[in-house]
Amino acid sequence: MEPYRIKVVEPIPLTTQQQREEALRRVSYNLFDLRADEVTIDLLSDSGTGAISAAQLAAGMDGDESYAGSRSFYRWHETVSELTGYPHLLPVHQGRAAERILFSSLLTPGSTVLSNTHFDTTRANVELAGCLARDLPCPEAKDLDSQHTFKGNIDLQGLRHALESAQDSPVAAVVMTITNNGGGGQPVSMDNLRRTAELCRRHRVPMILDAARFAENAWLVTRHESGYQDRTPRQVAEEAFRLADGCIMSAKKDGIVHIGGFIGLKDPELAQRCERLLIATEGFATYGGLAGRDLDMMAQGLVEVTEPAYLAERADIAGHLADRIRTAGVDIVEPAGLHALYLNAGRLLPHVPPHQYPGHALACQLYLRGGIRSAELGSLYLGEEDDQGNPIKSAPYELVRLALPRRVYTRSHYDHVAQTLADIAKEPSSVHGYRIVDQSPILRHFSIKLEPV
Ligand code: F0G
Repeated sequence: MEPYRIKVVEPIPLTTQQQREEALRRVSYNLFDLRADEVTIDLLSDSGTGAISAAQLAAGMDGDESYAGSRSFYRWHETVSELTGYPHLLPVHQGRAAERILFSSLLTPGSTVLSNTHFDTTRANVELAGCLARDLPCPEAKDLDSQHTFKGNIDLQGLRHALESAQDSPVAAVVMTITNNGGGGQPVSMDNLRRTAELCRRHRVPMILDAARFAENAWLVTRHESGYQDRTPRQVAEEAFRLADGCIMSAKKDGIVHIGGFIGLKDPELAQRCERLLIATEGFATYGGLAGRDLDMMAQGLVEVTEPAYLAERADIAGHLADRIRTAGVDIVEPAGLHALYLNAGRLLPHVPPHQYPGHALACQLYLRGGIRSAELGSLYLGEEDDQGNPIKSAPYELVRLALPRRVYTRSHYDHVAQTLADIAKEPSSVHGYRIVDQSPILRHFSIKLEPV
């Protein structure tokens, strides 16, 4: 059961099918353009969408808004250095600011960054620094149905090869994303992290954690990795941070705050370069674009997020939804993770070809029938077409992500999601595809316009 009870509630919008049809037409079938008050259950992202605790709210009330050297900063610094062990900590307003500042300070143009899988903003910031972002997911990740427990791992053989044969484009960093959001939200084992750290050390390449979901990764390690069953998630998280040379963190996920992030580093010179850029572009080094109250709420969230009862319930509620979705006859990327479930839309809608976007078609159905907002992760997000709309590149899988905000929705909300999916799965052939009518050249999924085929 939930290890908390509800003290403050927020009504959710209830809409009619006709209102949803009109809304979807108005936004040219782009779910990002819906007003949030047209959405009943919002599973677009688990980022910045969590519910804060009474203790976080209280910590925020005690925030010190001094321009420099606030009490909030020192409290935050003590908490984050105990958790991570990094001597140099810089607050930033969110994860992508950490990426931009670290990569601009660490990378030289023409070099390569390797990762188990770069998240899309991480990739964009590597590329903006003039570098190549290369993903090396482990082979087990290719089989969406397999129950392999650590499908978020990096391919160690591929990594060794890439480090040894990097003549043209030197490897400037290895980024380990825990959990692996771009790779179905799957966890990375401590063994994989340790071996990656050893390879990086041998080749004098820094290993950086993209730690947005470090606590959820630690939870799955305590459940599934031998040698870790008796450890607490907090102990696993502490060990993971210490294996790396530094981290970039979006605290909007496992900091359970609405805004915030940080950079943690061991290297003092790199930290100094980052600090200069931070001051020029985010804010002074003791606030980094955040209010004092944000720092205090983040510090409290970072403590709450590794509590075993919290993580056990988070896994349990995700498992509850996963069971009902499987029973409804819809396949998900297995095994079910904690922050999101990824629906296999390609398999549910085989009659919709990749370039009529089965993932998007399913996401639109979820909205039309149930007022549920989700995100396509398929050929709309990753594909490419020529000027006539003929396919050039398709995504490897046609998925829909149901992201699960922290402490926000209850089992009955998720039962509504599963029931809506069950209704769609009864007659999948009635679901039609979409065609693009307007798009932008980069990150097209945010602003794309479509029409039903
Ligand atoms: N790294 C990972 C693994 C992420 O999932 C995200 C954001 C970021 C970095 C960037 O952090 O949003 O604070 O700037 N993921 C969100 C999502 C947007 O919905 O998965 P940010």
